[in-house]
Amino acid sequence: MTPKAERAETTRQADLLERAGRYLAVVIAEGRGSHVTTVDGRDFIDYHLGSGPALLGHGHPEIVAAVQRQVPKGSTYYFLNEPVIRLAERMVEAIPCADQVHFTGSGTEATFFAMRLARGATGRSKVLKFEGGWHGMHDYSLWGTVPKRPSAYPNAEPDSIGIPEVLRGQVLVAPFNDAARAVEIIQRHANDLAAVIVEPLQRVLQPVPGFLEAVREAATRAGSVLIFDEIVTGFRIAWGGAQERYGVIPDVATYGKAMSGGFPMAAIAGRGDIMKHFDARRTERPRLVWASGTLNGNPVSATAGVTALDILSRPGVYDHFHKIGGRLRREIESLGTRYGFAVQAPGEDAVFGVRFTARKPLRNWEDLLTSDTQLNLRWSIELLKRGILVNPNEKFYLSLAHTDADVDRTLEACDQAFAAIKR
Ligand SMILES: Cc1ncc(COP(=O)(O)O)c(C=O)c1O
Repeated sequence: MTPKAERAETTRQADLLERAGRYLAVVIAEGRGSHVTTVDGRDFIDYHLGSGPALLGHGHPEIVAAVQRQVPKGSTYYFLNEPVIRLAERMVEAIPCADQVHFTGSGTEATFFAMRLARGATGRSKVLKFEGGWHGMHDYSLWGTVPKRPSAYPNAEPDSIGIPEVLRGQVLVAPFNDAARAVEIIQRHANDLAAVIVEPLQRVLQPVPGFLEAVREAATRAGSVLIFDEIVTGFRIAWGGAQERYGVIPDVATYGKAMSGGFPMAAIAGRGDIMKHFDARRTERPRLVWASGTLNGNPVSATAGVTALDILSRPGVYDHFHKIGGRLRREIESLGTRYGFAVQAPGEDAVFGVRFTARKPLRNWEDLLTSDTQLNLRWSIELLKRGILVNPNEKFYLSLAHTDADVDRTLEACDQAFAAIKR
C-alpha cells in the first residue's frame, strides 16, 4: 500500500471507529438468558456473552441458587475446599488428557503457568505457538498474535510494547494448519523446545485433518509438552472440548471462560507425570513449579463451575448448539451471498466468526488478513442498531439460552444489515 493510500485507510478507519463507538458504547444494566439490557433501556440479543463465559446464558437460575447457598459460607479461603475438589473431579471425568487439575484466576495465568510447567518438566525454555493464536496477555503469549503481515517464521514480533526484548527467540511462531512447517520447526528446535501451545480451533479456524495429529506426533518425538489452549473450546464445542471433537489428546490443556459458569476462574489440566511438578506433596522442592495465587480455587467460582458442568452434562445440550449455531452460520452465509458479498461463517456451531473474504478455505492468519474488516465493522454497527450485540471482527458466542425466536430475530437483523451496507 502506498503512504497516501495508507493515510486514507487510517482516516476511514478512524471515522468508522468513531461511529462504532456510538453504538458499541453500551453500559450493561443486566443480563438475562440470551439478552442484555443497557442502563438506557435498550435490549440486545447477546452474542458476546462476556467474551464466552456465559455459555448457559446470563443469570442461569441454577447457578444463581448454588452461588447464593455458597456466599454466606465465605467467599475465599485460600485452602482446599469442597466445591473446588468437586469441580476438579468433574473436570477429570470430562477432559481426556486430565489426571490432575490446577486452578488459576484467569486464562492468562493458566497459559503462563502451563508454559512454566512445561519448562520445569522438560528443563528446556522455548515455546512454539501458532500465528494468530491467542493465549492471553502475558509476555510469552503476545508474539505473532495479530501481526499486520505474515511473520518470518519461526521469528515473531511482539504484539505490545513492554515485552522484554530478552524473550525474542524464546517464543517461536509457525503458521496454523501447515503441518510440514510445524514439524520442521519442532524438529529443528527439539533440544530447546519445552512446549508447543495451540488453540485447537484457532479463533474461528478449524484444524485441517491431520494437522493436530502431526503436531502431536512431532511434540512426542521431540519430548516437548503439547499444550492445547481450550479456554474457548473447553466445554463449549463438545463436553470433552476440542480433544473430543478433533480426537487428538494433548499432554496438558488450559481452561477458562465456560468452565466456571460465568464466574472468574481458570485451570490447567493434564497428565499426572507432568502435573506433579505443581504438587508439593509429590515433588521435591528443587523440581517444584511454583504457581500459587491468593484467589486460586475460589469456592464461589467453583460452586458455579460444578453447577455449570452438571447442566452441560445433560442430554441434548450440544445438539442445541449445533441446531441453533448451525442454522445461524448457514443462513448468514446465504443471506450475505444473496446480497453479493463474499461472506463466510467459519468455526464451530457453538462459536464462529463472520468474515468478509473470498479466500477459501480459511486455514491460517495469512488467509484471515484478506478479510475486509471495515465492511465487517459497518455490518456489525448495523446489527447493533437493530439490537444484536456482537463484537465486530470477533466471534459469535452461542448460549444454551438462545432460542429459535432469537435466531429468527437475528437473521432478520442480518438481512437488513446486509441491505444497509449494500446501499
Ligand atoms: C484461547 C484463549 N486463551 C487465553 C485467553 C486469556 O484468557 P483471560 O482473558 O481469562 O486471561 C483467552 C481470552 O480470550 C483466549 O481466548
